[in-house]
Amino acid sequence: MKVAILSRAPRSYSTQRLVTAATERGHDARVLDTLRFSIDLSGREPDLQYRGRPLDDVDAVLPRIGASITFFGLAVVRQFEQMDVYTPSPSNGIANSRDKLRAIQILSRHDVSIPATTFVRDRADVLPAIERVGGAPVVIKLLEGTQGIGVILAPDTKVAEAVIETLQSARQNVLIQRFVAESKGRDIRALVIGDRVVAAMRRVAKGDEFRSNVHRGGTVEPVELDPEFQRVAVQAAQIMGLRVAGVDMLEGADGPVVIEVNSSPGFEGIERATELDIAGAIVDFVASQVAFPELDIRQRLTVSTGYGVVELAVNEGAALVAAGTTIGELRDKDISVLTLHRGTAVIPNPRSERVIEVDDRLLCFGNLEAMRGLVPGRRRRSRLQLQPLPDPMITDDA
Ligand SMILES: Nc1ncnc2c1ncn2[C@@H]1O[C@H](COP(=O)(O)OP(=O)(O)O)[C@@H](O)[C@H]1O
Ligand SMILES: [Mg+2]
Repeated sequence: MKVAILSRAPRSYSTQRLVTAATERGHDARVLDTLRFSIDLSGREPDLQYRGRPLDDVDAVLPRIGASITFFGLAVVRQFEQMDVYTPSPSNGIANSRDKLRAIQILSRHDVSIPATTFVRDRADVLPAIERVGGAPVVIKLLEGTQGIGVILAPDTKVAEAVIETLQSARQNVLIQRFVAESKGRDIRALVIGDRVVAAMRRVAKGDEFRSNVHRGGTVEPVELDPEFQRVAVQAAQIMGLRVAGVDMLEGADGPVVIEVNSSPGFEGIERATELDIAGAIVDFVASQVAFPELDIRQRLTVSTGYGVVELAVNEGAALVAAGTTIGELRDKDISVLTLHRGTAVIPNPRSERVIEVDDRLLCFGNLEAMRGLVPGRRRRSRLQLQPLPDPMITDDA
């Protein structure tokens, strides 16, 4: 295959390793400077120029987009996606993971533990926010920091308030997060490729530093990850929409606590610590997936007016259950069930004979009118006193 590596640092360890691994396997690998692309929307189809010339066809693109060029870098990756070029790091996944608030918001509805976190704007809301995450000491984080820069441990409430106020006055958005004290100075980096963890290491902070980043002087050691950490790492990467990711977890009292998902994880530390060929594993994975370019399912499927993608939560008392409805019977009503979530199981393409049960969640594509009839109304969270809303679960795009 022909693979383009998007990088501003052609000589960096990770970029070099990808080039070597691809070349060794007989692929044609080129490093392209992310900032030398022109996104061309002037013709009939989306196109890209590189250094002013038409870009040769490529089969896959491996973005290594640094924080300083996120905006342009994402636009370039998105353009490759419009051109149906495969990438294990879709623009959406990079965007989700780059912003710590966005990442944690997305993870929070899933079965993945995150540190209690709040995000507030008004001064009056700061103190209650600190209390809500368990009180001082608390961690304060800039939304887009990396390498441990922008992560502060405030020992008491007064300091926390002062730090937050200072950062906000400098127009910085900050998260307030519970300090996972039992993990002080240590974290786990799991490298996820596809649906498995291929390597993991523990990072240990230097001296009494609480941040374990290598850039802050942390040291690394290989670890054998237990299955729960592996499950959580893979799930976090998948939820973010990344097929290659470095998932950072704290070792909490009740198991793994995800703090961050990195879309361009460096290989140097983890390859040295584990003596594994991470770059080779990525290239092999990409070669196996190259026929499946990223696809925004909602964008494609909702183009047909009156049809949409909807998640149906089957409540107690749902007519579907009372009637013993099967997946096949839904199909006859113009509703295709793409996946069935039952307990902790996810069943893709469920068989037509399957009978729907209480607490199932069905991810469906189908006729919105038909699906509207199946949902009794929006599930409301009991502790919120909301005015009844006009059935917002399904929005007709007509
Ligand atoms: N809530 C927390 N509790 C305890 N330690 C934390 C917490 N959040 C971050 N850390 C420590 O600080 C380091 C940097 O935080 P992280 O959120 O990964 O930011 P960065 O993107 O700068 O690496 C982590 O590797 C971990 O060692
Ligand atoms: Mg980190």
